[in-house]
Amino acid sequence: MTTRSATTTAPRPAGGARERAAIAAKTLRTDRWWFAPVITVIGLGAWVTYATVRVFMHDFYWVQEYHYLTPFYSPCVTQACIPEAAHFGRILPGWWIIPDAALTLPFLLLFRLTCYYYRKAYYRSFWLSPPACAVPDGHQSYSGETRFPLLFQNAHRYTFYAAVVISLINSWDAILAFNGENGFGLGLGNLILLGNVVALWAYTISCHSCRHIVGGRLKHFSKHPVRYRAWGFVSALNGRHMQLAWITLGTLAFTDFYIMALSAGWFGDLRFIN
Ligand code: FES
Repeated sequence: MTTRSATTTAPRPAGGARERAAIAAKTLRTDRWWFAPVITVIGLGAWVTYATVRVFMHDFYWVQEYHYLTPFYSPCVTQACIPEAAHFGRILPGWWIIPDAALTLPFLLLFRLTCYYYRKAYYRSFWLSPPACAVPDGHQSYSGETRFPLLFQNAHRYTFYAAVVISLINSWDAILAFNGENGFGLGLGNLILLGNVVALWAYTISCHSCRHIVGGRLKHFSKHPVRYRAWGFVSALNGRHMQLAWITLGTLAFTDFYIMALSAGWFGDLRFIN
């Protein structure tokens, strides 16, 4: 961060503590501090738009020949689901307003919305609260997360458990996709589904709540060597949480797009076996 030095300094009052300098400029930063918030608005805005369109499209989510199911429709649980794609039954009405993965999408949304990284990202970029370090808040008052609705952000620790279950379901889908209509097979779609699942697990495990579950509330790591090793592993991933948050948005959208393209017949799957 580059700053210009302040030219005016308030006099030191009798008590000894300095008051804030009277600076007219909104910020003294001269670097491109606005770049990260702008990129975040574009990236998150584009992703949410794409995901919303796809979720309510109710089509092109299943490749019958290879049993590929996009994660946006997993698990497919409405009456409108293609029977072979409904690995866990069709228990909800098939109205267009109900996403086919209606049982899990709300929890996934909450998990991401309350994620420590995404909070920072959208507080800064969408709410300008504040847009960057040493740049004034875009609002007159600031109550933080001390009252409703932002107090609800504390529910993140519970949504983590839901995210683990959903990652298990996505893993199951990826495993089932090795068994297509003609038996065992391996194609580019399998690798994409697998890569997405690995990225999802890395993001889920790198969660701050997971780090606390694994290594928190311990007085002596020396008496819990297994948890200490697990905590070290999760901590290493946790240091990459922001990158994993973006990578998984990318793998989710890419996996969905690839399966949509196959399902719509835009091109065929690259097959290695069967
Ligand atoms: Fe980001 Fe938990 S802190 S997923």
